[in-house]
Amino acid sequence: MKKILALMLALIMVFAMVACASTDTASDSTAADTADTTKDTADTADTAKDTADAAASDEVKTYKVGVAIYQFDDNFMTLYRNELESYMKSLETDTVKYEITIVDGKNDMATQTEQINSFITQGVDLIICNLVQTSSADTIVNKVVDADIPLVLINREPLAYDADGKPLDEAYEGILNNAKVCYVGADARQSGTYQGEIVAALPDKGDANGDGVVSYVMIEGDPENIDAQYRTEFSIKALTDAGIKVECLDDQVGNWATDKGQQIAANALSAHGDKVDVIFCNNDGMALGAAAAITAAGRTVGKDIYLLGVDALEECQEMVKNGTMTGTVLNDHIGQSHKAVDVAIQALNGEAIENYYWVDYVKVDASYFG
Ligand code: GAL
Repeated sequence: MKKILALMLALIMVFAMVACASTDTASDSTAADTADTTKDTADTADTAKDTADAAASDEVKTYKVGVAIYQFDDNFMTLYRNELESYMKSLETDTVKYEITIVDGKNDMATQTEQINSFITQGVDLIICNLVQTSSADTIVNKVVDADIPLVLINREPLAYDADGKPLDEAYEGILNNAKVCYVGADARQSGTYQGEIVAALPDKGDANGDGVVSYVMIEGDPENIDAQYRTEFSIKALTDAGIKVECLDDQVGNWATDKGQQIAANALSAHGDKVDVIFCNNDGMALGAAAAITAAGRTVGKDIYLLGVDALEECQEMVKNGTMTGTVLNDHIGQSHKAVDVAIQALNGEAIENYYWVDYVKVDASYFG
């Protein structure tokens, strides 16, 4: 009996030990689970933090850029604005985007001023402006500077003028006084000089009818535009500097437009006939019109008349190549628009910018094509 009791006791102890052990095991696993769960929670938090960190570094920054163009209906500025937009878009990254709004000033300063006001109200991060009137540069620059928005002026260089409206050949102070304002463009004097030099380099130095004087017709762009003023002045200066005698038969404003160029050239050709040696146009748009008038008048470029433009539009490069135009000057819309965008991005990044950025013109005559 004693043996049986001892056995039962032993059995009870074994059971108790087993039970105890299993409780331990249970409590151990609970602790482990809890620890695991805590660890999991910590892991989840880590993951969340990682995601947040990634989101922060991957956070997309969208800069709003307002672009005011003086007039959409302009051959050269159309090439320029399209290149400006596509180049800026090409510089977007996964984390930096540019929301570009381009507006048409319709060649009206009041319209453009309203557009600039609206960019300011919308809180754009940067403005690129092709002024309708450089005489309004002050108003625009002050407005934008007051709103603490960086400003990149393009295409129409604002100069200081004297009381009679003549350019003083000096930098416009409003730009130099502001760290966040600059002008990107080409020096119009160079383009005029190149036109004159192309003529001076011709075998007859531009004297197509051989009467000893280069008699010319000047077709001007918008007279308020320094490009028009300087091209008009410096094309002729290059001739007189080369010792060539000149005579102005007619000087009319064609406002950069092809139809006006055609009309002015047609009138001048019918008024002056064979006396006309050279037609200078401040841009290719007007030269295209003049070319049509020259053909209509039965004249032949390179034989009894010469024709010059500026911009080097593709169709005009073709014409220079095949001789239906004497020469043009490359107004580098790619170089200028890329420079404007590069500078804009520097300003958006808070980097210092200079006040002036110049892009060279390139002479385009028959020799340009080799
Ligand atoms: C000039 C260009 C012209 C016209 C003008 C507008 O540089 O030669 O064709 O686009 O700008 O301001």
